[in-house]
Amino acid sequence: MTKNSIGLIGCGAMGSALVKGMVTMGDVDPGTVYLYDISVDRKNQVAAEYRCNTAASLEDFIPHCKKIFIAVKPQDIDGLLASLKPLVHPGQIYISVAAGITINYIESCLLPGTKVIRLMPNTPCLIGEGAIVISAGDLVTEDERSEIESMLKPLGTTIRMPEKLMDAATGLSGTGPAYVYLFIETMIDAGVSVGIRRDVASKLVIQNVIGAAKMLDSNTQHPAELRNIVTSPAGTTSAALLTLEEEGFRSCLIKAVMEATKRSEELRFG
Ligand SMILES: NC(=O)c1ccc[n+]([C@@H]2O[C@H](COP(=O)([O-])OP(=O)(O)OC[C@H]3O[C@@H](n4cnc5c(N)ncnc54)[C@H](OP(=O)(O)O)[C@@H]3O)[C@@H](O)[C@H]2O)c1
Repeated sequence: MTKNSIGLIGCGAMGSALVKGMVTMGDVDPGTVYLYDISVDRKNQVAAEYRCNTAASLEDFIPHCKKIFIAVKPQDIDGLLASLKPLVHPGQIYISVAAGITINYIESCLLPGTKVIRLMPNTPCLIGEGAIVISAGDLVTEDERSEIESMLKPLGTTIRMPEKLMDAATGLSGTGPAYVYLFIETMIDAGVSVGIRRDVASKLVIQNVIGAAKMLDSNTQHPAELRNIVTSPAGTTSAALLTLEEEGFRSCLIKAVMEATKRSEELRFG
């Protein structure tokens, strides 16, 4: 184990997505990565899949790691930080994905002066199409922040935001894929309602979402401009859009994101 080893605590959905992205899509050497999870089966399974090392205990690997990713549920963070405290040494960077757990709180539970970065990823990180919001504590240098961003690049787009917007980032982006899935699911049902076979409706709707997103990603036009292009006078799109406005589509979505943000604030710790 070298002084530059990478540790990851919690090999569940998000932890394994981080490992996968960094070692299979990025250029992190799996031989430098040490995985730990209280579920031995899960740890062994993820380590075998991505050819990483396993650690039998926190004492085994934390003192040797420069960067340590924390990917346990928020309710498990207190016990974990207490166990980490005696193992922390200066120069390490702790990178947490735990929703609602502030940088300040993590710093205060570890050694004074510990460097902490907070991430809000989302599940498309699993296929390298995630959106990852990053906030860094005051003690993290620009070089260190850039190095972590480069490591995360294979998982998707990284976006820097001040920590005070982390709850908003959770409501909009951490939770975002769920809104898109609900939209897709509903559109497929709508296709079936107007007589299209479910499998065909599914293909059409998914391609619509991919195509529309790629159009937006590949040019600088506002979504409203692209929408106007497909809305002919007294046409089908205009009839559909009027119904969506009457039924409160936009206000419903805005309220949903505001509610998710509020919920994230309620769960906040520290
Ligand atoms: N999933 C998402 O879409 C998403 C998006 C953004 C952020 N996040 C954040 O990512 C974090 C992890 O979420 P997840 O969905 O990946 O959870 P998960 O699938 O439950 O994975 C967490 C893993 O950590 C293990 N664990 C619990 N306490 C531990 C400890 N003290 N030491 C080592 N391992 C421990 C758990 O074991 P047991 O199951 O045996 O307890 C489990 O294997 C959360 O804080 C969440 O807020 C998740």
